[in-house]
Amino acid sequence: MMIWNRSLALEEFVAPGFGYLPGKTDAIRGATANDYPAYAVLSRELGDDPTPSAEQFAAELAPSILISERDGAPIGYVSYEKLAANGFIRNLVVAPGARGSGVGAALMTAAASQLRERGATDQWHLNVKTDNIVAIRFYERLGMRVQYRSVVLRMPWANLDRLPADDTRVTVTPLSDGEVGDVERALGILTGLLARFRARRGIVSLQLRDEQRAPVGVACFDPGFLGAFPFCHPSGVRGTAPAGARATRPPGRSRSTTRRRE
Ligand SMILES: CC(C)(COP(=O)(O)OP(=O)(O)OC[C@H]1O[C@@H](n2cnc3c(N)ncnc32)[C@H](O)[C@@H]1OP(=O)(O)O)[C@@H](O)C(=O)NCCC(=O)NCCS
Repeated sequence: MMIWNRSLALEEFVAPGFGYLPGKTDAIRGATANDYPAYAVLSRELGDDPTPSAEQFAAELAPSILISERDGAPIGYVSYEKLAANGFIRNLVVAPGARGSGVGAALMTAAASQLRERGATDQWHLNVKTDNIVAIRFYERLGMRVQYRSVVLRMPWANLDRLPADDTRVTVTPLSDGEVGDVERALGILTGLLARFRARRGIVSLQLRDEQRAPVGVACFDPGFLGAFPFCHPSGVRGTAPAGARATRPPGRSRSTTRRRE
């Protein structure tokens, strides 16, 4: 995965025109709970990520989703959120038959406008898979630039036992609210990202500190679900990756999925 970072401030964003088609009426509006069926169908275009439930859609997601309609039928959506002063695009999808007519750009323009209204005036960010060439070109045309790459690692938990023994200089402790800013700054994590994950129900967040108590790693995960994100540690600090991975292993689990920033 890559995180793209737009280098310009949101105010400077000028989107290409919305490509209206003759005889068709396009419009963008806020989502409601009734949009769930269309949202679920469109979300299949994003690959194998699990689609949130109807309850989660209605309660948490719909207030920050914009729906694009053509002649009254949903043809795309953008899901966004504000992280501190940054905008974050969670997902953007346009129905296959409606692509290439400016719907995606119009949705991004509308999301930028909503984010500005909510105080996200710094930068905006999103993740895009490295093989999604069409989307990458689309985002580049909107002025976004690569900030960093991350990778998805899947491995059996048993493999952890073959890694070097824990480095005793690294300590793993729960992350407290007061330490979030310090850890984000030290590890170069987008401001607000850790708070966003910590706010979710059931999420455990752990930090790794070296002998000087400096942050050298962090992991957020749901013990009932495979995987940790963010899972971040600076390269070159010995023992942090194995120590962090071992700390996220729930009892009885045999496989781990971890998204790690390079
Ligand atoms: C990426 C996506 C949202 C773009 O939506 P869209 O409505 O087709 O985009 P637009 O019509 O606004 O196109 C904007 C630009 O991208 C270019 N573009 C869009 N689709 C393209 C395609 N299939 N091939 C080449 N260029 C394309 C257009 O030429 C246009 O550039 P221009 O205005 O300078 O001519 C859409 O392709 C999509 O839904 N893909 C599947 C889901 C996905 O990958 N989402 C992103 C996940 S991070």
